[in-house]
Amino acid sequence: MWERRYTRKQNGYRTKSHSRLLEKLCGYGKGKTALDIACGTGRNSIYLCKRGWRVVGVDISHRAISRLEQRLRQLRCQNRVKLITDDIRDANLGNQSFDLVLMSNFYDEELIEYSYTLMKKRALFILETFTAGSDGESFGMNTRFVPPAAQVKAAIEKKFEIIESIHYLGKSRYAPSVPKLAVVARPKRMPGRYAVKL
Ligand SMILES: C[S@@+](CC[C@H](N)C(=O)[O-])C[C@H]1O[C@@H](n2cnc3c(N)ncnc32)[C@H](O)[C@@H]1O
Repeated sequence: MWERRYTRKQNGYRTKSHSRLLEKLCGYGKGKTALDIACGTGRNSIYLCKRGWRVVGVDISHRAISRLEQRLRQLRCQNRVKLITDDIRDANLGNQSFDLVLMSNFYDEELIEYSYTLMKKRALFILETFTAGSDGESFGMNTRFVPPAAQVKAAIEKKFEIIESIHYLGKSRYAPSVPKLAVVARPKRMPGRYAVKL
C-alpha cells in the first residue's frame, strides 16, 4: 500500500515540514542517537540530522527510503543517517539503544512496548498520530490505525510516563480536519526530571 502511494508524485515528493514537537523538544543533539520509526521520506530524520543527531531511519517502503537517500546526499548529511528498508519489526538494529525514539504519523500499538526496549535510560519517546473523533469516527482510515486518543495514552502509560500531550487538528488525504494527538513520554523506570537535556 505504501509503495503504491509513494509512486504518486504528490505523495513523498512533497517536502513536508518536520513535527512541531521536535522543534520544541529536540534542539542540538551532537552525540545523541534517534530512531525514526516509519521515517517515510524523512522530514523528521532530516530535521534531526541537521541538528547534529545521528539518526537511524527505518521504513518498509523502498521508494520512500530511496528518496530520503537522495535528499540526504543533496544535503551532504548521508553520513549521519543510517537507513534501513524493512518492516520495523524485522529491522536489524544491532544492539543499539537510542536517546530518542520517534513514531510520527504511524501508529501500531504493539510497537510502543517494542520502542521501550530500544531506549536508553535517559531517553524520550515521541508519538504523533491521527485519532478517532469523539464519536469514534475514523475519517475513512482503517480504525486500527486511528484509535481513540484515550486508548493511545493508555497504551503508552503501560511503559512510559507521559510528560506532555497535545490534541490538535491535522489534515489527512481523506479529510481536511482530523483529530491528532502528540505525546512526549519517558520510560517509567527513570526517576527524576526530564529524561534528556535537549
Ligand atoms: C504517513 S507515513 C509517515 C512518515 C513519517 N514518519 C512522517 O511523519 O512524515 C507512514 C510510513 O510508515 C511506513 N510503514 C508502514 N508500515 C511500516 C512497517 N511495518 N515498518 C516500517 N515502516 C512502515 C510507510 O512506508 C510510510 O512511509
